[in-house]
Amino acid sequence: MRKSFLVLLILGIMTASSGCGVNDISEPETDGEIKIGVTVYDQYDTFISSILEDLNEDVLKARNETGRGIVLETYNSAQSQATQDDQVEEMIKDGCDVICVNLVDRTAPSNIIDTARNADVPIVFFNRELVDEDMHRWDKLYYVGADAFLSGIMQGELAVDVIREKNVDKNGDGEIQYVMLEGEAGHQDAIVRSENCVNRMLELGVKLDKLGYAIANWNRAQAATQMEKMIKNYGPEIEFVFANNDDMALGAIDAYNASGMNRGSWPYIIGIDGTDPGLSAVKDGTMAATVYNDAKGQAEAIFQLAYRLSCGESLSGLELQGDKYIRLPYQKITQENVDKFR
Ligand code: GAL
Repeated sequence: MRKSFLVLLILGIMTASSGCGVNDISEPETDGEIKIGVTVYDQYDTFISSILEDLNEDVLKARNETGRGIVLETYNSAQSQATQDDQVEEMIKDGCDVICVNLVDRTAPSNIIDTARNADVPIVFFNRELVDEDMHRWDKLYYVGADAFLSGIMQGELAVDVIREKNVDKNGDGEIQYVMLEGEAGHQDAIVRSENCVNRMLELGVKLDKLGYAIANWNRAQAATQMEKMIKNYGPEIEFVFANNDDMALGAIDAYNASGMNRGSWPYIIGIDGTDPGLSAVKDGTMAATVYNDAKGQAEAIFQLAYRLSCGESLSGLELQGDKYIRLPYQKITQENVDKFR
């Protein structure tokens, strides 16, 4: 099996007597060292890489606070579910106490669940949500993510604010001509964000005219290519660009920069995530607004679950919904409050 990415972060050596904490209900099976395996669908995805960075920080912090040896093994599945299935087998052979999985194909978790269940190693899925039925295939499955529909609603509301404050309806026809840049087909955040953004705007009384859409798989370069085509097709008609994430919004900005079109005639462009480059674009005004997808909070929830499960420690206080789900809230970001997020 080809592993294109493996980080082995060894964070201190554990003394045999250290425990997980005051709430221990059983001893870990390792020699006191905790091994957490993480596999992500694509390490080059900007939002996912920020979750990984935050997770590393949480591990370092916990190591300092507990004096415990904590090892984080991180794998990149490079968009192959077969590779990810193999990685999970490898992590289990390697003695991981818990596996954190950002699925490549959220409809295909079966091999991973079977492998983990046979070895009795709990799984914390994150960001790419399984269907509820799969989540109930074993009691040691957890999910950390966000309420996707809220991000769409917030994006719609932010766009309505812009429409009420600025001269968005350039042709004055009483409708907003827009295009949508969408994440991967079948991803819970793509479908739900697009639908809720548009529905919320309609609810708030804005008339919309959809000129086109393109799937750009969360990716900045793909979004730039797609946007370039839409600029050719619709030119100055486009008044708003909605992107399911910041990277695609930034791709749209790249396309407008390359188009040579006068900045004053660009449409308003809005994203979701609040990644570092997204926040900079909100700050400098090239992105009208974004919605904060709490990478830090999600990383912390993943770590808390992983750590406590490794130690056999109680999960109380983690605000698990239905004993399985932790969902972090989104927040609206505009030029006025962007500095709070940077
Ligand atoms: C979304 C996020 C996207 C992308 C995707 C990957 O929640 O907004 O930027 O990272 O997850 O699954």
